[in-house]
Amino acid sequence: MSLLTINKLTDTVGAEVVGIDPSRMVSDDAIAEAILNALEDNGVLVFPAVNFDPADQVEFCRRLGAIDHSADGHHPVAGIYPVTLDKSKNSSAAYLKATFDWHIDGCTPTDNSYPQMATVLSAVQVATSGGETEFASSYAAYDGLTDDEKERFASLRVVHSLEASQSRVNPDPTPEQLAQWRARPTHEHPLIWSHRSGRKSLVLGASAHYVVGMDRDEGQALLDDLLKRATTAEQVYSHNWSVGDTVIWDNRGVLHRAAPYDETSPREMLRTTVLGDEPIQ
Ligand code: OGA
Ligand code: MN
Repeated sequence: MSLLTINKLTDTVGAEVVGIDPSRMVSDDAIAEAILNALEDNGVLVFPAVNFDPADQVEFCRRLGAIDHSADGHHPVAGIYPVTLDKSKNSSAAYLKATFDWHIDGCTPTDNSYPQMATVLSAVQVATSGGETEFASSYAAYDGLTDDEKERFASLRVVHSLEASQSRVNPDPTPEQLAQWRARPTHEHPLIWSHRSGRKSLVLGASAHYVVGMDRDEGQALLDDLLKRATTAEQVYSHNWSVGDTVIWDNRGVLHRAAPYDETSPREMLRTTVLGDEPIQ
């Protein structure tokens, strides 16, 4: 018998896990294994009202894989990063406006560590308006290509950069900001990610800067078209947060974004990211 009770939320992405005892999520290895399998199958798992405290969240994530500590220092608990536009809660909040654009976490790591496999968010405070998190499957994005497109795109490579994602939300940076963005190494990824599992997905989103060897405008038009086709309303699961919810998504097969919310909103999510064990290839 399956260890988890799961309700699918859309045809292509997202499932709700109901009736799970949160204390087993931080103590039971069989549950961790079942969650990893369900994550691979559904892309996004919603755990309503688990009310994790930050240390529990990190312990839960540790059972799923190695934790990303590259953003430590913004929260007293190592492994926790506050996602909020409130600068008093996170001194690097300005960067987080880029979460309003579709993206995949981990396309522009600070070093050569493996890209983030999964991201976990728990809601501490929610926005009064907006602030849902939206998800679309990047496996479905690949599956939706024509056979001709699958063939034509097989060799395409795309350069991803922090500058690309930041300049969309801050088109007029100071020279210092630009220098900071450019200090982050760029990363070249294939457009089509061939996973160890045998599945294929598209690597798209705000960090995609340009298609290697293609005219800039033509490459931009291609990336825009693919993203638009991947994120039509009927393919999106939108999570409307309640305080205490935990949501986990699989960056190998999911694009996501935050629906806009006010910059003065107290909305605060606590994030932990789990590193993967395979490169984008
Ligand atoms: C993130 C992210 C979206 C949100 O934490 O990586 O994109 O809804 N968050 O806050
Ligand atoms: Mn993100």
